[in-house]
Amino acid sequence: MCGIVGYIGGRSASPVLIDGLKKLEYRGYDSAGVAVFNGDVVEVKKTKGRIADLEKKLSAEGISSGCVGIGHTRWATHGAPDDVNAHPHKGGNGRITLVHNGIIENYIELKIMLEQKGYKFVSQTDTEVLAHLFDFFYSGDSLKAMSNVMKTVRGSYAVAVLIDGRPDEIIAARKDSPLIVGLGENENFLASDIPAVLKYTRDCYLLDDNQMALLKQSSVKLYDIDGNEVHKDIYHVTWDVEAAEKGGFDHFMKKEISEQPKTVHDTVTPRIKDGKVVIDELGLSDEDIKNIGTIHIVACGSAWHVGTAARYIIEKLARIPCEVDLASEFRYRNPIIKENDICLVISQSGETADTLAALREAKSKGARTISIVNVIASTIARESDDVIYTMAGPEIAVATTKAFSAQLCVSYLLALKFAKAKSLLSESDEEKYCAEILRLPELIEGILKTDSALKELAKSYADSENVFFIGRGLDYAISLEGSLKLKEISYIHSEAYAAGELKHGTISLIEDKTPVFAVATQSDLNEKTLGNIKEVKARGARVIALVGENHSAADEFADDIIRLPEISDFLMPSLAVVPLQIFAYYMALGRGCDVDKPRNLAKSVTVE
Ligand code: F6R
Repeated sequence: MCGIVGYIGGRSASPVLIDGLKKLEYRGYDSAGVAVFNGDVVEVKKTKGRIADLEKKLSAEGISSGCVGIGHTRWATHGAPDDVNAHPHKGGNGRITLVHNGIIENYIELKIMLEQKGYKFVSQTDTEVLAHLFDFFYSGDSLKAMSNVMKTVRGSYAVAVLIDGRPDEIIAARKDSPLIVGLGENENFLASDIPAVLKYTRDCYLLDDNQMALLKQSSVKLYDIDGNEVHKDIYHVTWDVEAAEKGGFDHFMKKEISEQPKTVHDTVTPRIKDGKVVIDELGLSDEDIKNIGTIHIVACGSAWHVGTAARYIIEKLARIPCEVDLASEFRYRNPIIKENDICLVISQSGETADTLAALREAKSKGARTISIVNVIASTIARESDDVIYTMAGPEIAVATTKAFSAQLCVSYLLALKFAKAKSLLSESDEEKYCAEILRLPELIEGILKTDSALKELAKSYADSENVFFIGRGLDYAISLEGSLKLKEISYIHSEAYAAGELKHGTISLIEDKTPVFAVATQSDLNEKTLGNIKEVKARGARVIALVGENHSAADEFADDIIRLPEISDFLMPSLAVVPLQIFAYYMALGRGCDVDKPRNLAKSVTVE
């Protein structure tokens, strides 16, 4: 995690750096800092807390108005989130100033080596090793020093370095952590993510792994790890920074929940033509699809919940065996991948470290890789054989909502495409399902209108200590998501269970008034789930049933009912998830939580 920025040009650097850091705060907000040249030496200001705390510090203490600087917003991995561990860090006798996003895996052995050479460490971070190591290798050639650092460290990094006495350059490098260079008129920028530079420029270089960048005021040069110059195409950003602002909502999460009709519309309409699914990005012929062995679905967190749903849908409609893995498990379990297997990777950010590693693992074993990604030109997108973009636009709230919905929709389209290729879907059914998918935005819009009822419902459960979610099949996948949404933003303990599993242990936790969210939207499983509702009810649970309009059997046993419009069962997740998101939002709000930036979390998990 962490976000880094850099600026070299004609303006005072510190406001530009702060501006960029605010756009990157979703990447971590434990501490923040900036470093700016003051003449020939670099001045550092840093503090624990958020960018706002850094701003206060800068206005109280001031900082150089120099035109070259770097900045950082931190999500702690090594060492507590305090002033000392905040970046930038100094190396050598203070002549090197460095910011870093990532994890240095061999930092302990390097630290011992550097201490033996007389380097003194003040922080508990792995980053300080990088600063001293850079100093160790530096004898006047910054590119050479960076190249040696890159060849010595193991791990992931996006780094930016300032060197005392060289106020005309910033040197940066990346491996397994995102880094872009923004190209301006007689000024240049560095950032972990594009929104940080969009106010100033739309032209960027997207650095690849093991590349270095040397930024001067009027030029940017890129190099490989050996110092050979490399040439890259300029990436021109076509989307708008406004899309990343709050637009009148109190929270990004609420804005993003309400954007779901548009997100779903934008994701599906280009891929449904004349009642048929058309996924131009997919490089698989019908013959290839017929020959698919197993689909290995890998993802983390909410994206893994989409994968869990996708498995049910693809297996049901297209009869292709699927395995769903948490990326962090897949990457280390030496997965068995056979000829004709494919790997389906799901990620909003396209930068999640474990998901990226899982993709690489699958690739190295010969699988064709297909990714469902939101952030355009992100690393996962670039490294996949085929990428299907979700059209959710920038998602800023840490808890995903609209990207989740968009990922679900791509899963439906893929399942239909696969089923059609295997002659398991008739033209008329394809047409019928496509028409239903195109109706999803309007149906979601209708659910959004029940906002005030959901707000009231949340109010009546605000004091809950534990909330359980149960469901079967696709309802289980959505229960997992409802539970994660609730716990991550409201800090209420919550678990999701496949309803049939309850009796195997968890039911012992149900006592008088324990809230249980029962998701029952799947017609073939509703009776079974109803049985589980009765069981928890008999033990005193307060049941909230989330059911389709025509499902009245639960009425008798549920304390509260949320009704959803009817649509084909496999599309129900798109409707069922929305009230759960809104419920979690109001629960968190009612408890005074920082909805957009829950504690201990960051938006983009670029370390494992
Ligand atoms: C939860 C949430 C996370 C992400 C997970 C994967 O609300 O947002 O669980 O889903 O960290 O992130 P991406 O999709 O960026 O790979």
